[in-house]
Amino acid sequence: MSQGLNVSILGGGSAYTPGLIQGFIRQSKHVPLSRLVLMDIDEHKLSIVGSVVDQMLKASLPQCRLVLTTERKQAIKQMDFIICQIRVGGLPGRHIDEHIPIKYGVIGQETTGPGGFSMALRTIPAMVEIASEIEDKNPRAWLINYTNPTGLVAEAIEKASGIRHISICDEPMVLQESLAAFLRVPPENLFFDYFGLNHLAWARRVFAKGVDILPQLRETLEHTPLEKLEPLFGEEILKDPKVRTELRNTLRIFEKTGMMPSPYLQYYWFTGEILEQQVQSGRTRAQEVMQMEQDILADYQKAAAGEKPFETLRGGKWHADMMVGMLGAIANDARQVFIANVPNHGALPELPYNKIVEVPALVDARGAHPLAMGIMPVEVRGLIQAVAAYEELTVQAALRGCYDTALAALSCHPLVPSGEVAGHILDDYLRAHKEGLAYLRR
Ligand code: G6P
Ligand code: MN
Repeated sequence: MSQGLNVSILGGGSAYTPGLIQGFIRQSKHVPLSRLVLMDIDEHKLSIVGSVVDQMLKASLPQCRLVLTTERKQAIKQMDFIICQIRVGGLPGRHIDEHIPIKYGVIGQETTGPGGFSMALRTIPAMVEIASEIEDKNPRAWLINYTNPTGLVAEAIEKASGIRHISICDEPMVLQESLAAFLRVPPENLFFDYFGLNHLAWARRVFAKGVDILPQLRETLEHTPLEKLEPLFGEEILKDPKVRTELRNTLRIFEKTGMMPSPYLQYYWFTGEILEQQVQSGRTRAQEVMQMEQDILADYQKAAAGEKPFETLRGGKWHADMMVGMLGAIANDARQVFIANVPNHGALPELPYNKIVEVPALVDARGAHPLAMGIMPVEVRGLIQAVAAYEELTVQAALRGCYDTALAALSCHPLVPSGEVAGHILDDYLRAHKEGLAYLRR
């Protein structure tokens, strides 16, 4: 790449941003930045995160110009890449999404179950608006989307616009980097036979030098107590209690199935157990994250004032490696394999042709080209197909603004026990979110 890139981040005031910038610094040889625009509607967060980022750039990428703005068009015009990590309705919106289902004895989670449904209905209209602004003002730009629920957002963008776009999630990178740590090999030495939907995917086989390493992992699991096993997956895992719990549950499912699941499969495998924990704790994950975010911003403020060294407290290495890696593979026409959320196009023949699926893809200057992963094991095929149908209907409901389609979508979600309960949950969401969901017409 001869010149540096113009990159913007929508939702740039997020606590994830400094970790992402560390990724750009690590990769600056391959992915040089000449201009970075951080856009956020929250001026307070933008100014705190902006001053940390300013320091990082001055110290490590002095040639990169930093722009902070609250105006979206500033972050769209003349950009090569637009990274999107917005949260429509903020964490209070997420709290409503997670809180309501628990009243009906249903899992309350940001992206899985009714929570993800509500989040999709609230987020898709905003994302479609962003996509059409890009199409209008800067159609050659790439949108790299991290906004959740990633799979549904991707499906809506693909249906509603013609922009150049890839949606990603860092979960596949967590799996790749932690298995690489376990094997003590570089992550790029592993190849994944991996299939499913975002937050509902499985690694069926993981190859190192052509040999599937999952049987070896399963054997180690049998002979090693958990406390000794955890550190084998690398230090990043040990930093975050949520990720540690996810690893534990992931390994429990792996033990039974012989395949490594996305951590979000825990909500399907251990539904009763997790629901019980959610009821007992009396706090939603949104409320926990609100508290964490306040502490993190206070910490960033101290770092910006030079009172303490900067530490990445959210997002971390995986998020940055996925985002900057993907962006670099497009910018450099690198033909590298990343697991991404892309239109199926036959990669999983048991799912619709245009469904967004999460599979390994070859990434080059034309985008992400899915690799054929073939027939899914019958043990998990039904769940994936059921969630795929729920997702298709949810996206349709959001794009058409149709209440009945939304009800049909939630009624067929495998975690929702009946159409009747789906109706109660949907109506509670409509009341609680008011403006956010007022566009759904009966
Ligand atoms: C993982 C998921 C993301 C999610 C993030 C934070 O990285 O893949 O989709 O946004 O965790 O989850 P949390 O519950 O901590 O906000
Ligand atoms: Mn994710």
